[in-house]
Amino acid sequence: MKKINRRKFLNDVCPAIAISMVGASFLESCSKGGDDENLDVSLDTDSSPESSGYTVEDNVVEIDLNHPAFASLNSDQWMNFTAQQILILKISDSSYRAFTNSCPHQGVRNAWSYDQSESRFVCSRHGNSYPSDCTTLGTNGYVLECYNAVLAGQKLQITKP
Ligand code: FES
Repeated sequence: MKKINRRKFLNDVCPAIAISMVGASFLESCSKGGDDENLDVSLDTDSSPESSGYTVEDNVVEIDLNHPAFASLNSDQWMNFTAQQILILKISDSSYRAFTNSCPHQGVRNAWSYDQSESRFVCSRHGNSYPSDCTTLGTNGYVLECYNAVLAGQKLQITKP
């Protein structure tokens, strides 16, 4: 945890945020002096591949499949990788598919499930479903867009358009 100076923190934050978010009572505490103790503020600045399990370069997302963040690919065979707006499907240990997580119906990104028996993604917002073969039309007449996904060792490289 990084320590920052309380006065500097309040001076930096108060003018921009306090008025719109917390009102006059907080402004009073901003103007009080003599309290320069340090605050513990958690600043998550670590976006290294070791921390997140993936890197992004241009339109290519490279995922470390051994990273705990992607463990659900082994347990559930799929995941909604919301940080990069990608659905990932594990076909086998050597084959993966990737899709946009934007539902072709109205663009909802967070209502997905995967129906193993039908091999299709289901968007629960309005009940449309989309085959995971990258070609067959979904129930609303659209294909769930596929991305190129290439496996190199334990790294999955997904190229977004
Ligand atoms: S937004 Fe997904 S089914 Fe309507």
